[in-house]
Amino acid sequence: LVTVREIYRNREAYLDKEITVGGWVRSVRDSKTFGFLVLHDGTFFETLQIVFHDKMDNFQEICKLNVGAAVIVKGTLVATPQAKQPFEIQADEVTVEGGSAPDYPLQKKRHSVEFLRTISHLRPRTNMFQATFRVRSLTAYAIHKFFQERDFVYVHTPLITGSDCEGAGEMFQVTTLDLENPPKTADGKVDYTKDFFGKQTNLTVSGQLNGEMYAQAFRNIYTFGPTFRAENSNTTRHAAEFWMIEPEIAFADLKDDMILAEDMLKYVIRYVMENAPEELAFFNSFVDKGLMERLNSVVNSQFGHVTYTEAIEILEKNNDKFEYKVSWGCDLQTEHERYLTEQVFKRPVFVTDYPKEIKAFYMKLNDDGKTVAAMDCLVPGIGEIIGGSQREDSYEKLLQRMHELGLKEEDYRAYLDLRKYGSTRHAGFGLGFERCVMYLTGVSNIRDVIPFPRTVGNCEG
Ligand code: 4AD
Ligand code: MG
Repeated sequence: LVTVREIYRNREAYLDKEITVGGWVRSVRDSKTFGFLVLHDGTFFETLQIVFHDKMDNFQEICKLNVGAAVIVKGTLVATPQAKQPFEIQADEVTVEGGSAPDYPLQKKRHSVEFLRTISHLRPRTNMFQATFRVRSLTAYAIHKFFQERDFVYVHTPLITGSDCEGAGEMFQVTTLDLENPPKTADGKVDYTKDFFGKQTNLTVSGQLNGEMYAQAFRNIYTFGPTFRAENSNTTRHAAEFWMIEPEIAFADLKDDMILAEDMLKYVIRYVMENAPEELAFFNSFVDKGLMERLNSVVNSQFGHVTYTEAIEILEKNNDKFEYKVSWGCDLQTEHERYLTEQVFKRPVFVTDYPKEIKAFYMKLNDDGKTVAAMDCLVPGIGEIIGGSQREDSYEKLLQRMHELGLKEEDYRAYLDLRKYGSTRHAGFGLGFERCVMYLTGVSNIRDVIPFPRTVGNCEG
């Protein structure tokens, strides 16, 4: 089968030739002696018009096709300079590969994204989700390409772990115990030594701790895989299962980390702009009118920089605008992040040096003893898209922080060990892959950039 993508990319090679294409019917119109099928073959954003006629044995069958049917068409590609579409196929044969029932839920009209979420098996056949998931695929490729071109080693970190990287206790437990009737210890607690791994385990919230171990051997590494958070936040930017990209760089500090993050985001935006122009044009027309202008300006801008303390000073002056009032020490909410990046900087901005109390245990303590070498990258429309930091490389300071937070030394033995044997300055970050796709498309709900989203109360499809 020739793909519609090939036809558009290499039209001279196919014009006036006999070709065979296959796809799903978007619409059927017929008169007494001929009819039109509009076909979408999934390889390209544009559809293909098929003209069929009553000399075909199965003319009646084709006229009666329902939207959604799968067909294979043999015919000649002809130019149609007068029409909306640049060419069509004059069919000689239309074979029905799989008919479609009359209750096919996708109609020609625009459906709401809320409705489409209820049919996650069919929504990839719509323009909106064709565009989204092609951009998602290209974005993943661009990210790998960025890191591979820079000789970063791709490390596969485990999905089942015994530690809690972010220390937020937002983990999905993994167990084979019969939880209705579990083995108990002498003091009546569940005896996890009897569990599959001999201890309590969970799905990973981040591959960072393992990533650091490989950075202390390869220098520059990245992970790219699923992560899981049992956060009970029912928002448009939180999913329980999402993908994260976590580079980790040795002999590097927070500045190097931010340069890497900015370079990566710009590279990925450029790549998608070059390789998905039809999809981005669609988003710009139907989803977010300011998208192209924003993406264009981001690749040509320098990201802003502000310390947490400076950011709080700016936000405090505008506390009347916020639902949650800010003061030094508080965590930034989405409304504050968006205010900073949309109203104050009007471009992506790095917020650095957060209070240690609101950040994870592994971040490097600054000389002030109060803040850590952390950075969050905030972007318009979303807020935090990246969270990163320089890591604490001193054994003593790390151990002290772990004690302060009540983390068990034995759960982090290897991680601590790393600080004993040739520890280097090192830093890294996590890019939320879905948030990156949201940023590139203007799609405003994380549920609409994940093929089968898992969010609080939802595990369908
Ligand atoms: O800021 P976070 O929690 O950082 C870490 O996990 C570090 N271990 C990363 C590192 O330094 N290697 O998460 C990183 C990013 C966030 O900025 C956000 O984009 C995304 O992951 N993220 C989520 N995306 C979707 N749904 C959720 N529930 C998310 N939680 C975090
Ligand atoms: Mg974060």
